[in-house]
Amino acid sequence: MAEMKFDFEHALDRVGKDALAVETIPFEGAEIQEGFSRIPMWVADMNFATAPSIPEAVIGRTSHPAYGYFVPRKEYYDCIIRWQEKRNKVTGLTEEAIGYENGVLGCLSTAIRTYTKPGDPILFLSPVYIGFLGTMNATDRKVIRSELFLDENNVWRIDYEDLDRKIKENHIRFCVFCSPHNPCGRVWERWEIEKAMEIYKANDCLVFSDEIWSDLTLDGYQHIPTQSVSEDARHRVIACYAPSKTFNLAGLIGSYHIIYDPEIRKQMKKTSDATGYNHMNVLSMYALIGGFSETGEAWLDELRHVFTGNVQFACDFIEQNFKGVHVAKPQGTYMLFLDCREWCEANGVTIEELIRRGIGVGVIWQDGRPFGGTHTIRMNLALPLTVVQEAFGRLKEHVF
Ligand SMILES: Cc1ncc(COP(=O)(O)O)c(C=O)c1O
Repeated sequence: MAEMKFDFEHALDRVGKDALAVETIPFEGAEIQEGFSRIPMWVADMNFATAPSIPEAVIGRTSHPAYGYFVPRKEYYDCIIRWQEKRNKVTGLTEEAIGYENGVLGCLSTAIRTYTKPGDPILFLSPVYIGFLGTMNATDRKVIRSELFLDENNVWRIDYEDLDRKIKENHIRFCVFCSPHNPCGRVWERWEIEKAMEIYKANDCLVFSDEIWSDLTLDGYQHIPTQSVSEDARHRVIACYAPSKTFNLAGLIGSYHIIYDPEIRKQMKKTSDATGYNHMNVLSMYALIGGFSETGEAWLDELRHVFTGNVQFACDFIEQNFKGVHVAKPQGTYMLFLDCREWCEANGVTIEELIRRGIGVGVIWQDGRPFGGTHTIRMNLALPLTVVQEAFGRLKEHVF
């Protein structure tokens, strides 16, 4: 890897800058003890400055003092098409298949309100991203989980028999796929997606494929778009992407869907138009354009390399120092999903107490149980390596 062009070595001070990550402690009764600084390792955003081409594009636009009604620029669509071709090897994507979404969860909500009714079952691969569960709750749909399992090489895998059985038993017609998978960090291989899609097809299910993490694969891993595995998948899948995870833009809002099937597009548009809320913000449009650029790409590839190093460090450290804590090494995302059951049992410490102890020394990690498992913790590694090292040093000295 060439010398770093961008700064991933210094922690960004986000205090007073509208950052949930540093303003909230996500666990009741937990407090940071005196003498420890706060290391935000929970909500999925990053503690790095974004690619410089993004503030450049946004500030460039704000310097023109009119912010009236607008239509998305052709450049917006061209950037997405070029990005999808270059990063994900997508062919044949046209402007009409792309649609703005206020958020990936907003798009999911639109899809489930279009294709299911309150009380209907929806299938997720579990452990499952808690945002999905929030959307299910808000729309009164029923969550059915098909559990992933760890194979003999400690790799999370889909239990295809279970998936097929759960779909049949519960008469499911709508499934959610997350690729790469949060919180397990799997970058699904083509054969795995093909096999899942065969099951969805055989059971005539519509599939919502959340690919918000698609740009954040670690070195050596390539994202495979779910829609690309077959002609059937191209039409069966509503795919949702965003520059928000990639470039730390969640506060600006702005995702997009790819839907190839014209009928699905029409039905989705009707539901989303009915809310009156699903409109692009001019600054988030410029942020996307700034991100999906040559500078954005160079920044992203350095970032992926930084994450590869952080993940390697953290997994090695856990293996060498935290006996009874298990983790499957992620292939994408910047999240670790720890299973602490064995450690808790061996040391007579509850998972609640363990979470509090970590937060006590300033490591603001996240209860993993709502995602899945009985003794799980989710950790965000999107910080400079030295800060990640500091966090793990504290955990070793004071917690585990
Ligand atoms: C898998 C997944 N989907 C969706 C989201 C949220 O997306 P949005 O903010 O666009 O609704 C997240 C955020 O962490 C996520 O991890």
